[in-house]
Amino acid sequence: MNIQFLKEAENTDVAIVVGVFEDNEMTAAAQFLNDTTHGLLKTAIETNRFKGKVGDCISLIAPNDLKVRRIILVGFGQRKNLSHKGLQDIGGHIYAALATTPDKEAVLHLGDLSANSLGKGDIAALIASGILMRSWRFDKYMTKQKAEDLPQLDSFSVITEDPESATEAFKPLRAVAEGVFLCREVATEPCNIIYPETYADKIKSELKPLDVDVEILNEKDMKKLGMGCLLGVGQGSAKESRLVVMQWKGGPSDQQPVAFIGKGVTFDTGGISLKPGLNMHDMKYDMAGSATVVGLMKALALRKAKVNVVAVVGLVENMPGGNAIRPGDVLTSMSGQTVEVLNTDAEGRLVLCDALWYTQDRFKPQFMINLATLTGAILIALGDLHAGLFSNNDELSERLKEAADKSGDPVWRLPMSEDYNKLLKSPIADMQNISNGRMAGSITAAQFLERYVNDVPWAHIDIAGMAWIDGRQLPTAPKGATGFGVRLLDRLVQDHYEA
Ligand code: BES
Ligand code: MN
Ligand code: ZN
Repeated sequence: MNIQFLKEAENTDVAIVVGVFEDNEMTAAAQFLNDTTHGLLKTAIETNRFKGKVGDCISLIAPNDLKVRRIILVGFGQRKNLSHKGLQDIGGHIYAALATTPDKEAVLHLGDLSANSLGKGDIAALIASGILMRSWRFDKYMTKQKAEDLPQLDSFSVITEDPESATEAFKPLRAVAEGVFLCREVATEPCNIIYPETYADKIKSELKPLDVDVEILNEKDMKKLGMGCLLGVGQGSAKESRLVVMQWKGGPSDQQPVAFIGKGVTFDTGGISLKPGLNMHDMKYDMAGSATVVGLMKALALRKAKVNVVAVVGLVENMPGGNAIRPGDVLTSMSGQTVEVLNTDAEGRLVLCDALWYTQDRFKPQFMINLATLTGAILIALGDLHAGLFSNNDELSERLKEAADKSGDPVWRLPMSEDYNKLLKSPIADMQNISNGRMAGSITAAQFLERYVNDVPWAHIDIAGMAWIDGRQLPTAPKGATGFGVRLLDRLVQDHYEA
């Protein structure tokens, strides 16, 4: 979609969008339009269930003499609450309102609006990025769509007193949106299209042109490194496993990198500990952690972030089969630690343990953050409202929490301790891959991972409840793959780790 920032509107045959605050205080732009239309907006507000809350919206046919197609009133919520996340949400709602009209072009009038610490340009750019993020669609396999049933909007203008700074502020936001789109795309692709080999190639073709170094390790390479746990998960599949290592060198050459690691189980049947059939198709998004990491690398490279970053994703398919690992098998990880696999469906941690060990061993990073759709238990604990955060480091956790609140990708920290760690004791190997009961399943999974970080500052974000949301409508994403984590980690890097 073409998005631009202007001082004055150019075309007239468009939909006009104006904002109204909670308790129906009009923005200056809305007030002006209300005056020109002899109180039309006021009447519309009074005759509809419109309170100016974020998400409230009225679509009106414009009076004939106004020479525009339509007037859309959108709720801006409370002025004091205007924030990064709030403004992006407002943009998402604006797109949703326009997507059901045949309008090709729309214009948002912001007048002189500024709020809190946000300048006019920031406000315009943040709303625009919300519009862009909500506009993403995945319809490449729909062969029978009719044009008239699809959104028609292809041009959006924001009228602001400061179009220059809005245009500047929008550049990094567009880069992040592009990263979010890549994340959603690979998470949505079906598993006959995206499997370890094709996924690795896709990563290379997306990131190489942006000057990200991409190395692809195959099974032979990983065998040499001793990655017995990751390879164990993949061995029941007809598809070969891959490990993809990405490097973005935007910082000084002597700067230690920051590191992101992702679980990329391209399909999780559970293996021999087979999952029940109902909704098993959901497990196509079991590579969402890796998708977030790949999307993040795209965002950072597009906006030329001034930092050194490494990203490592373990790509495997977890299938039952004659060669699959069995419950009770013992695997040896790259770290040398041995694991008794009591449940082949607890495979994410087996993939990550080798990816984490490899990352700290080779790159000596400032910190490691891994993302994974790791446990169903995190959905029971936090639903689809927060990702679970686990960490061995309070400073990193605080920074993540702050970045989460600001970016609109929420996280909630859960505890870890030696008592939970003990639950992984195995009678035959260094550890079991699950505890004996079902209690605290997300925490014991985190305890497992911590055994492979070698005391590097580390955080694990369990995104099983957040990566794919179709039970409710998010403002800035269509139903399905959300792109969770790209905005969050971009914000973290921007606020603390760039020169
Ligand atoms: N990929 C699943 C976790 C998951 C569940 C992701 C629901 C997204 C939605 C993971 O590999 C898994 O199967 N975990 C098991 C662990 C158990 C065997 C200890 C689980 O959560 O049931
Ligand atoms: Mn599983
Ligand atoms: Zn899984």
